Amino acid sequence: MPDTANLEIGDDKYSLEIITGTEQEKAIDVSRLRKQSNHVTFDDGYGNTGSCESAITFIDGDKGILRYRGYDIVELAEKSTFLESAYLLLYGVLPSRSDLEAFKQLVGGYCDLPEEVVQVVHAQPKNAHPMAVLSSGLQALGGVYPQFCTNDRKKDLEAFDQSAALIISSVRSIAAALYRHVNGQALPKAHSDRSYCGNFLSMMFAQGDGGEEVPESVQNALDLIFLLHADHEQNCSTSTCRMIASGGANPFASLAGGVSALWGPLHGGANMAVIMMLNEIHESGDDGSRFVESAKQGKSRLMGFGHRVYRNYDPRAKILKSACDQALAALGVSSPILEIARKLEEVALEDSYFIERKLYPNVDFYSGIILQALGFPTDMFTVLFAIGRTPGWLSHWKEIAETGKKIHRPRQIYQGETLRSYLSLENR
Ligand code: ACO
Repeated sequence: MPDTANLEIGDDKYSLEIITGTEQEKAIDVSRLRKQSNHVTFDDGYGNTGSCESAITFIDGDKGILRYRGYDIVELAEKSTFLESAYLLLYGVLPSRSDLEAFKQLVGGYCDLPEEVVQVVHAQPKNAHPMAVLSSGLQALGGVYPQFCTNDRKKDLEAFDQSAALIISSVRSIAAALYRHVNGQALPKAHSDRSYCGNFLSMMFAQGDGGEEVPESVQNALDLIFLLHADHEQNCSTSTCRMIASGGANPFASLAGGVSALWGPLHGGANMAVIMMLNEIHESGDDGSRFVESAKQGKSRLMGFGHRVYRNYDPRAKILKSACDQALAALGVSSPILEIARKLEEVALEDSYFIERKLYPNVDFYSGIILQALGFPTDMFTVLFAIGRTPGWLSHWKEIAETGKKIHRPRQIYQGETLRSYLSLENR
């Protein structure tokens, strides 16, 4: 295979280096092209642009492969836990038993939310969007720990073990604090001796001072959702985190930006949109077929379907599809919308519109059904996605802080007015 690509612009010829990734992905290095030729590349939406070299997560969207640090998501989903996979993402290796125990202790030790952050949550109107509360809560958390967010890379990296554990722990506490606030309740005492999800679920739903621990099978259903969301390479929110981090900003600021980017319905907000769509279909008496027709005509969009990278079944959706039955059985509930989801999937996967466009269910298609069965309100679904994605965002912050040399600064092709003369108010 050639190690250079040749580009001709008029009479000028340029030789561009080809970079090969460890999974044999090829990229043409254009980083010096503008200097050499006075041209930039144009790639609206970045679908064809490698923005960085990264060693965290690998996706082969055509084959439906997702790996964290080389480990297949299917194997991790079966054998690992959210916190173990978080450690793997953050540090690049699976932890030893004692490292995992120490990590769990560190995360657990930060589960009580500082009073200042609780006040920031309480200061928000009850109808504020949970993603807005999470983003501002993260910024406030940084304010409580100024020693972890100096914006001096060396110092922020030295504090990373602490700040990462603090943030992973606190995102769930902020979520619970906002849920309790909306329901006019105080945040109950956290239980650092419980599992990450066991502690979170009692902070969210327990009566009195912690109550009984929720069954392990229920904790496991949420743990699996978090694990499956933990990283997904250079998606919109992760790229936002990396962009912010490239300017030297601390992890709290970078993740607050990531949360904002995740909010949108085409990204993390899709899990909410899926449930709204399924409820709408259910209430209208449709079994899904009419909705599929309207999506084909461009009148609606089949939420939870399609992906910028996957042109095959999203492996996370496959895992969650089978986890749905187990989770609902563990909770002893049935879900009429699960039937509709299955029917929609069946109809869509046999339809030439979806086949030709390679549209398959993505991670959000089934996750919302489990979250709803667990008792989470729909408007918190994207916050739950953010809790899961937190270790990934932190890993990318660390990668940038350790290896990044340049601030990220794309170019543009300006298509606006050329130079105009200013007209005074009287002459307009
Ligand atoms: N329903 C119906 N048609 C669709 C859908 C869908 N969900 N997704 C894409 N299409 C169609 C488009 O209309 C377009 O058709 P055309 O070629 O006739 O114009 C074609 O498929 C390509 O669509 P694009 O929007 O160009 O695909 P892109 O890769 O840019 O978008 C995206 C990916 C945003 C995820 C899109 O599939 C979508 O909107 N899906 C629904 C929202 C969703 O589930 N988002 C979650 C993504 S996963 C995540 O962020 C965790």
